[in-house]
Amino acid sequence: MTAAIIRLEHVRKHYGSPPVTAIDDVSLRVDEGELVAIVGPSGSGKSSLLNVVGTLDRADEGLVEIAGHDIARLDDGALSALRSGSIGFVFQQFHLAEGVSALGNVADGLLYSGTPRHERHERAREMLERVGLGNRTTHRPNQMSGGERQRVAIARALVASPPLVLADEPTGNLDQRSGASIVDLLHELNADGTAIVVITHDTALAAQLPRRIAIRDGAVVADERSAA
Ligand SMILES: Nc1ncnc2c1ncn2[C@@H]1O[C@H](COP(=O)(O)OP(=O)(O)O)[C@@H](O)[C@H]1O
Ligand SMILES: [Mg+2]
Repeated sequence: MTAAIIRLEHVRKHYGSPPVTAIDDVSLRVDEGELVAIVGPSGSGKSSLLNVVGTLDRADEGLVEIAGHDIARLDDGALSALRSGSIGFVFQQFHLAEGVSALGNVADGLLYSGTPRHERHERAREMLERVGLGNRTTHRPNQMSGGERQRVAIARALVASPPLVLADEPTGNLDQRSGASIVDLLHELNADGTAIVVITHDTALAAQLPRRIAIRDGAVVADERSAA
C-alpha cells in the first residue's frame, strides 16, 4: 500500500472572536506521489488548509499527519525541520529574492539542508535546466517574465527533493498561456514521484488534474478522481 504524505482527521480551525470557522471538520488523505487540486471559491478555506498542511499554522482540533509525523507532537524546532526537509512551497506572488539571480534563488532552497555551497549551486543549475531555464541562471527576477519567475519558484521548491509540494494559486498572476505551461510543468515534476497539491479557485485548472478535492465553507464537499 502506498504511504500517506498528508493525513487529516476531523481538523477544525477558527479565527478571532466571535469565531469564524475556516476549516470545518476536514478529513482527507493524500498519498505519496499524488497530484491533487484543492478547489473552492474565495473564502472557502483554501489558504487556511494550506497553512495547516504546510505546518505554518496549527489546527485547533483534529489530527494532522505529514510524512507520518503527528505535527501536534512536534515542537517548533522539529516542525521547522520537518517543513524544510519535506515540503516545498510555491505561491501566487512567486516570493523570489529580488536582487538575487535565478541560480541564487533556487540554491536558497537548499540553505537548511546542510549542502555545501558549491553543491547547492550545482543542484540549482540542474533544477533550472529541468524547469526549462538553463539559459536564465544569471537573470534576476525583474529581468524575467511572470511565467519564468514562477518556474524559478518551482525549481526552488523542488531542489531539495521534498516528497510534498504545496502550490497556492500558482497560475493566479499569469496569463493563460504561461499558466498552462506551469500546469504542464507540475505534471512533469509529479511524474518523477513528488506529491503536488495545487490550491486554486480555477475550476478549469483543477479539471486538468487527476484528483480534485472541492471545499466550500471550510468543508470537503467532493473528492473526485478522473479515470486514468
Ligand atoms: N487571520 C484571519 N483572521 C480572521 N479570519 C480569517 C483569517 N484568515 C482567514 N479568515 C477567514 O477564514 C475563511 C477562510 O479564509 P481563507 O482560508 O483565506 O480562504 P481562501 O483561501 O479559500 O480564500 C474566510 O471566511 C476568511 O475571512
Ligand atoms: Mg487563499
